[in-house]
Amino acid sequence: MTENVVEIRDLRVNFSTYEGIMKVLDGVNLSIKKGEMLGLVGETGCGKTMTGRAIMRILPSNAQIMSGGKILFEGSVDLLNLSEEEMRKIRGKKISLIFQEPRRALHPTFNVGGQIAEIFYLHMKEDVLKTALQNLAESENSTSLLSNIMRNIYTEELEGKESSIKRILGKIPILRTKINEPVEKVLDEKSIDMLEKVQIPDPKRVSDQYPHELSGGMMQRVLISMALACNPTLLIADEPTTAVDVTTQVKLLDLIKDLKKDYGASILLITHNLAVVAETCDRVSVMYAGTIVEQADTYSVFKEPLHPYTQGLLAAIPIIGQTRELKSIPGSVPNFLNPPSGCRFHPRCGYAIEKCIEEKPLFREVRDEHYVACHVVE
Ligand SMILES: Nc1ncnc2c1ncn2[C@@H]1O[C@H](COP(=O)(O)OP(=O)(O)O)[C@@H](O)[C@H]1O
Ligand code: SF4
Ligand SMILES: [Mg+2]
Repeated sequence: MTENVVEIRDLRVNFSTYEGIMKVLDGVNLSIKKGEMLGLVGETGCGKTMTGRAIMRILPSNAQIMSGGKILFEGSVDLLNLSEEEMRKIRGKKISLIFQEPRRALHPTFNVGGQIAEIFYLHMKEDVLKTALQNLAESENSTSLLSNIMRNIYTEELEGKESSIKRILGKIPILRTKINEPVEKVLDEKSIDMLEKVQIPDPKRVSDQYPHELSGGMMQRVLISMALACNPTLLIADEPTTAVDVTTQVKLLDLIKDLKKDYGASILLITHNLAVVAETCDRVSVMYAGTIVEQADTYSVFKEPLHPYTQGLLAAIPIIGQTRELKSIPGSVPNFLNPPSGCRFHPRCGYAIEKCIEEKPLFREVRDEHYVACHVVE
């Protein structure tokens, strides 16, 4: 059996608002396998972004994660039990996130290369220092006094000590620049290498550019490179192609697919676009009003959707080569202040029975690896 990189069990998140408590995530169950791309789909407002943010533990300040749920990462660690400090070590390194709006995710006054370099320095300092040391040893003037001093400084930093020589020399600007040079060179090379991996043409030039000089698609590539910089176990991509045109969208999705293969990362692709899921994902989780209603491999979900909501979603999208009437699901996503009892989909469901109003259906395996939360699906 393939192991799960993430397993969310019964995740509940409430929001305090001036109108009252909003029960937004209502028992989310979802698993992401090693090396797979899982699509999380559902109408806007159903809780996809909040699910991604809960995994990263970056929910809005008025959100409260209710007790009883779990987010198991790499088998055993419950992310919900980690301290903020432990979480900081995971964020950006083991789990990274690409947002829908690249412009807001990049710092406007730092150049692209500098922003990638910062991630390397933050999470992979050891690697960077080791490479710098190696370069020093191999350089022509490796026996010079300055080289020796730098080697001492880097070795101390590698051992986690604060270097006193660096503190003293760092007060003299020209020497400060000199002693940081080898590290900056490594960071520069690593940043340009990352830009190359996301197929940015002329990466050296782009590395010196500022976010406002780049197109939306280019910026999203930069963000992908930043997200992959530390070889994360899980990449959460929240509507990564919504803000770009269709051609760029296709190219970005192809890129993400290729990178998944190269890096072996698992990807949670959050989107409201079913066509994107059909094209790119191995499995799908369908979300409705704060719960996962169906999860299975992409083929099964598209071929034989079992949950009435999934069936409704699929009936609403046009399929090339098929002439049939498109039907939208009647009604809209419910209000989270006072959500429907039992199955939250019941006011919109054509199959609802009495039990649906009274009891919340369990999320259970009805076929091999095909999970559904519905009272009437056998
Ligand atoms: N800070 C907040 N306070 C109260 N409600 C919020 C807050 N942020 C998001 N929500 C609500 O949570 C619900 C789920 O939002 P979201 O996860 O962004 O949906 P999706 O990504 O599926 O479109 C929405 O109804 C939204 O209004
Ligand atoms: S549990 Fe009932 S209301 Fe909910 S989807 Fe199934 S049939 Fe419809
Ligand atoms: Mg969203």
